[in-house]
Amino acid sequence: MKNKTIIVSNRLPLQISIENDNDVKISPSVGGLATGMKSVHQEGDSLWIGWSGLTEEEVNPEIQKEINTAAEQEKCLAINLTEQELDDYYYGFSNRTIWPLFHYFMEYTKFDEEQWKGYKKVNEKFAEKIIENLEDGDTVWIHDYQLLLVPGMVKESKPNVTIGFFLHIPFPSYEVFRTLPWRESLLKGMLGADLLGFHTYDYERHFLSSVSRILRHETQFNEITLKNRIVKVDSFPMGIDYEKFEQAALEHFEKTQDQKSELQARLDQHLETSPGSKMILSIDRLDYTKGIANRIRAFEHFLEKYPQFKEKVRLIMLAVPSRSNVPQYQKLKREIDELVGRINGKFSTVSWTPIWYFYRSMPFDNLIDLYTSSDIALLTPRRDGMNLVAKEYIATRTDLSGVLILSEMAGAAHEMNEALIINPNNYDQIADALKQAFEMPLKEQKARNKIIQRRLKRYGIKKWADEFMKALEGTKVNHISKKAT
Ligand code: ADP
Ligand code: G6P
Repeated sequence: MKNKTIIVSNRLPLQISIENDNDVKISPSVGGLATGMKSVHQEGDSLWIGWSGLTEEEVNPEIQKEINTAAEQEKCLAINLTEQELDDYYYGFSNRTIWPLFHYFMEYTKFDEEQWKGYKKVNEKFAEKIIENLEDGDTVWIHDYQLLLVPGMVKESKPNVTIGFFLHIPFPSYEVFRTLPWRESLLKGMLGADLLGFHTYDYERHFLSSVSRILRHETQFNEITLKNRIVKVDSFPMGIDYEKFEQAALEHFEKTQDQKSELQARLDQHLETSPGSKMILSIDRLDYTKGIANRIRAFEHFLEKYPQFKEKVRLIMLAVPSRSNVPQYQKLKREIDELVGRINGKFSTVSWTPIWYFYRSMPFDNLIDLYTSSDIALLTPRRDGMNLVAKEYIATRTDLSGVLILSEMAGAAHEMNEALIINPNNYDQIADALKQAFEMPLKEQKARNKIIQRRLKRYGIKKWADEFMKALEGTKVNHISKKAT
């Protein structure tokens, strides 16, 4: 039998929920990890293990059967968590400790022993599922900050299995990471992998520095020497399924009037009623790392500093609900509601509302409507591991028009120098970038986008996964030669 890759992440590419009395609903997951890895999983010989989206308390045998069938069809294996596990591991340690700390939001970071115990317990649950499904010759590829202990747990019980780990969020500088009471355990957990991947060289460098200063292991370039093996560390900037977005945009433009979505009809109507006006787009999960409040304030500053653009511009903001049981996310939701209300109240006229705000998930086709209809994308994360939305926007600009304004705090900024790069805390700079984008000649837009598109095409999601897997395969040689000496 052919060897398989076991992909492991907290969230599966499909999200299972129960609606109106035992109706099982399956929807696609949102987020860079799920959308990116989905393309890899569809093509390869892999099994994807992850959380179903449900708690054990919600599931009865009948529902479980449906879940298993739905998951199997997608080559997935779904794990249910208890309410308590979910509280401690997901809403707790993952999203109230690691997520804020790794994104440099120290004031939001909670250190709670019970949640740490819950995190360890669920990581063990994942490790057991992997081990149960492991066959000789299989490779394991574990993803992201919710599962930092899993590589160590699997390695301990199966020392010969090749394990890769990829972190989809930033790894913070040593000075920030060292504040964690459980820093040694987390690093040791990660070092169970044979290859550790990060989006950027900076994250990799921060990780190596923490390993050498906290665990005192010898680190050289991109290698860490342990007692009985070598761990490789490297950066692999995650790409997108370029052809999928390009193709979707091309098909979008071929649609006849009656094939267009309701959203597209509304967008077209806006252009007809306000000729010469431009649309600015932002798409993110509703997360404090994404700088949504900064963006709205910067937009307000833009309208004040350059009043000539009033009635000539509209900010379309799509915020996807995320982690809404965590207090900071609830607070942010209220803050954004208030900000949007205040700014619309302040500037609106009978014929113009400056901000259109959607707080919901949207089907893929609507995302494409938004990407293709917007003249400017304004993405202002305060910290972001990568930001795939920036890449998706450029991939859909099939006629090369459009301007991307991107925060320097996003991993993606390293590969998108031709975009207008801003500091998300500098509202004046963002206002100037908006003006520059508004006035940028088409020729210049095309020249900039052409370069970025070429780069994104060359380093798409498949190449990213291939390079990671090739490097992981390479660690086997390492392993063997180390054993021989
Ligand atoms: P993060 O992983 O932090 O959420 P990214 O920008 O890297 O941020 O990835 C977000 C992903 O989620 C993108 O691939 C984007 O297409 C997808 N996405 C964003 N909004 C929606 C939505 N409303 N519906 C479906 N997918 C979405
Ligand atoms: C980021 C994380 C992913 C996560 C996604 C959505 O992309 O890196 O691990 O899946 O956000 O967040 P959620 O908490 O809904 O899974």
